[in-house]
Amino acid sequence: MPSPSAQNPSAGDRYAIEAYGLTKSYGKPPARVLDGLDLRVERGSVFALLGPNGAGKTTCVRILATLTTADSGTARVAGHDVVAERSAVRRAISLTGQFAAVDETQTGEENLRMMARLTGLSRTAARRRAQELLERFDLTGAARRTVSTYSGGMRRRLDLAAGLTGSPEPGVFFLDEPTTGLDPRSRQELWQVVRELAGRGASVLLTTQYLEEADRLADRIALLDKGRIAAEGTAADLKGRVAGHRLDLVLTSREGYLRLAGRAVHHSPETLTLGLPTDGSAAHVRALLDEIDPAGTEIDRFTLHSATLDDVFLALTSEVPAHV
Ligand SMILES: Nc1ncnc2c1ncn2[C@@H]1O[C@H](COP(=O)(O)OP(=O)(O)OP(=O)(O)O)[C@@H](O)[C@H]1O
Ligand SMILES: [Mg+2]
Repeated sequence: MPSPSAQNPSAGDRYAIEAYGLTKSYGKPPARVLDGLDLRVERGSVFALLGPNGAGKTTCVRILATLTTADSGTARVAGHDVVAERSAVRRAISLTGQFAAVDETQTGEENLRMMARLTGLSRTAARRRAQELLERFDLTGAARRTVSTYSGGMRRRLDLAAGLTGSPEPGVFFLDEPTTGLDPRSRQELWQVVRELAGRGASVLLTTQYLEEADRLADRIALLDKGRIAAEGTAADLKGRVAGHRLDLVLTSREGYLRLAGRAVHHSPETLTLGLPTDGSAAHVRALLDEIDPAGTEIDRFTLHSATLDDVFLALTSEVPAHV
């Protein structure tokens, strides 16, 4: 069966990654991890795949990076089919912490030189390339230390550098939860590296559980839920889908809380707080308050705030409980 991009030859130029209808099940009886996943990542963009534990993020990355195969569906990376043109895909990509296989007992510099040699560079060229990468990833000071002494952030920067030792540099980067477990400063440093890669024209697919990370870094964000893309767009698009603002009401009674819970997008039964979507205008907020509490006795306090990606995620991916 021809893939959709084969019917549309220009798609390969526009997209670094295209996936259509990917499915994957594990175990007996089979449990569906991916359930018809569609994905398109434009060349030169940073794309975040956002989802909770077990959503299928790593499975998706492994299929796209040719480490495993989908049960059905097709995918192309850098214009190559991930099954039929597996080697071409591998030459075009870098996957953090996988192909990199950094040796803990060697120094950062030794690791990079060795990998540059493996990609076919001469001894002199490999040394030069290692120096360049150490500088670019701010590792010059630690170049002569064994990797076992590196912090988590340094280690991940070295992983990324290791994926770049070849020439030409790969055009598509898969970063599977690149900042999980890092402290805020190391996370910022890694974000900077990702921006730099994108600035040089690379395409980046990163997975994350951090809404803030997707918000800050990605041109487009897809919310992965139960093996499908539940929503996709820019951070602004997605925030726009939940009415822009949220009116949090602290109710005076549990009865009032239960009566209104079905309309809310945010629930906090312990504090009797419910969040309702609003456009944030005075007229709408006033109308909501009047409608919900005409006698002025049921609402104790309220706060208004801009919708966050958390709100988007909850609104679009989970079943909001109608009552507690
Ligand atoms: N090789 C495997 N064999 C059996 N089950 C698997 C395998 N790989 C993944 N799974 C299951 O598939 C589901 C999705 O896993 P996956 O690793 O893709 O999720 P994830 O979104 O990357 O989660 P996390 O945020 O925890 O990394 C999980 O329930 C997991 O247990
Ligand atoms: Mg994972």
